Amino acid sequence: MNINDTYDPGHYQANAGRYDNMKYRRCGRSGLLLPMISLGLWHNFGHTDNLETGRNILRTAFDHGITHFDLANNYGPPYGAAEENFGHIFRRDFRPYRDELLISSKAGWDMWPGPYGNLGSRKYLIASLDQSLKRMGLEYVDIFYHHRPDPETPLEETMGALHHIVQQGKALYVGISQYDAALTAKAAQILREMGTPLLIHQPRYSMFDRWVENGLLDELERQGTGAIAFSPLEQGILAGKYLKGFPEDSRAVKDARYLNKDKVTEDQLDKVRQLNVIAERRGQSLAQMAIAWLLKDERITTVLVGVSRPQQLLDNIGALDNLAFSGDDLREIEAILK
Ligand SMILES: NC(=O)c1ccc[n+]([C@@H]2O[C@H](COP(=O)([O-])OP(=O)(O)OC[C@H]3O[C@@H](n4cnc5c(N)ncnc54)[C@H](OP(=O)(O)O)[C@@H]3O)[C@@H](O)[C@H]2O)c1
Repeated sequence: MNINDTYDPGHYQANAGRYDNMKYRRCGRSGLLLPMISLGLWHNFGHTDNLETGRNILRTAFDHGITHFDLANNYGPPYGAAEENFGHIFRRDFRPYRDELLISSKAGWDMWPGPYGNLGSRKYLIASLDQSLKRMGLEYVDIFYHHRPDPETPLEETMGALHHIVQQGKALYVGISQYDAALTAKAAQILREMGTPLLIHQPRYSMFDRWVENGLLDELERQGTGAIAFSPLEQGILAGKYLKGFPEDSRAVKDARYLNKDKVTEDQLDKVRQLNVIAERRGQSLAQMAIAWLLKDERITTVLVGVSRPQQLLDNIGALDNLAFSGDDLREIEAILK
């Protein structure tokens, strides 16, 4: 990927009508509104990807009122590359719009060698956020997450690090990702006692992965914490793209780090085929229906999609045109997902 800051002197002017159609939801019981569709940079922003495409994706997002960009220390490849590339694009295009943007990062998975570059110690979280800020060229992130539970580190230490980061002004809000309901309740309690609310939880949630329905969403509601659902399209499977084989430019073929051909099962494809019939009847693409189906629960503040090209993002935004499901739709979908 070309990461030269001078590669394109073109000046970006955001679309003046960017807030006309996007819908926003309040994040739990906080003062913060999030767009109902958010954009994640896990894939497609590494040094092996095309920076110009990434730039167009970010511009398309912001031009349509998507104010929230989600990153993490180790998004790439290599680790750190997505933040670096985002930093370049931010400096070229988005600096004047900093106060209109919500930028998040995370630490919790492996990042650098040795005992201090992984999991949930205060040492790791604070050092990692400092590195992320440098890579992105930002003074602060809007949301900083602990990326996954660490069974070895006392929760007080991890939450204490998040609280400290807010006190330092390096993050405005904090979140957690993939914590179960019981641990979420404890984390929220510890943070609350320190005076830092738990703004948001980032769980994996899609038609094919519904673990959050077993208590987590109820707990988030109790705590007044919002939810941002990641991998809502099951990395593309729920967009129907693998129904006729494996396209060369798809994630399962070109970037098999987390999704590969073996992980796309016949059972999933069979369900996707049936779901597609309902989506067509509703006048939506399957991706749109899969997103709308998550947003039917108002506790889902926003759905965090990834896209490999701007057109996919436009398709996904179109989900907001039809969020209503009839009882029959829901029953049919439920029967397929069983
Ligand atoms: N907290 C965590 O632990 C965690 C873990 C994973 C992800 N995340 C976050 O969640 C974000 C989204 O995850 P994800 O990328 O797995 O989300 P996803 O939306 O489930 O999958 C994205 C992929 O689906 C395909 N796609 C998306 N929209 C499409 C459309 N309209 N039509 C056809 N194909 C479409 C594209 O695949 P192709 O590339 O094949 O075109 C795209 O790369 C990440 O960027 C990251 O910010 C967080």
